[in-house]
Amino acid sequence: MEQIREWLKSSKHTVVLTGAGMSTESGVADFRSKSGWWQQINPRTVATTEALASNYELFHRFYTARINALEHIVPHEGHMILADWQQRGLVQHIATQNVDGLHTAAGAENVDELHGSIRSVRCQSCGQAAEMSRFLAKEACACGGRLRPNVILFGENLPQQAWNNTLSHMKAAQLVIVIGTSLEVYPVSQLPHMTNGKTVYINLEIEHSHFDRMVKGKAGETLKIIDASL
Ligand code: APR
Repeated sequence: MEQIREWLKSSKHTVVLTGAGMSTESGVADFRSKSGWWQQINPRTVATTEALASNYELFHRFYTARINALEHIVPHEGHMILADWQQRGLVQHIATQNVDGLHTAAGAENVDELHGSIRSVRCQSCGQAAEMSRFLAKEACACGGRLRPNVILFGENLPQQAWNNTLSHMKAAQLVIVIGTSLEVYPVSQLPHMTNGKTVYINLEIEHSHFDRMVKGKAGETLKIIDASL
């Protein structure tokens, strides 16, 4: 950890990239762990535009469950530490695959949500933003179209501005810290390869060995240890 602390203190441009493992300590299930969403349900049946078009009942039930689950969810200490590091100038950019908004809720700024957000909805047909209560009540858009959360479904393009912004931060980074992600989903999985900086991977399971430092452990606990003597 000492080496990571040194890199964090000396780096002039540090980027943090997180995935679902960053939120499990807040009580949000991840996807590919033993207790993850994709162990219970086939993602193709709920997280695709085909599912939205041809299986709205299940699509709606899945996202309603995830939205309702967020009701009592708050950021954990790891989220607070990252926001604090950003405020202290130790971290220049936070990008996440998570759609739960917990980094922003912890006080982080300008977070790039590469897979969108489950906290707002829009019409699939006309693109008009809609009230969350209308989606939860399974009402249609005024135009008759179906309402859906602003998450990126498999097969959809990532938000261009968020992607470009994160990519440019990666290219300029002297240090990239990747936390709580299996890095199974393209194109985010490619981001850690886009930097010439030092790379650190903090994850419960170490599934990738191309990092300069790999820490097998919980996100919150590991961030607390690193933060302890910064
Ligand atoms: N601390 C550290 N790592 C953790 C923790 C934790 N508390 N809890 C889980 N993990 C690890 C798991 O071991 C796993 O390797 O986090 C990783 C989470 O991987 P996934 O469940 O695949 O989530 P993620 O990588 O974010 O998935 C990417 O896939 O389904 C899509 O759109 C969805 O954004 C998601 C994308």
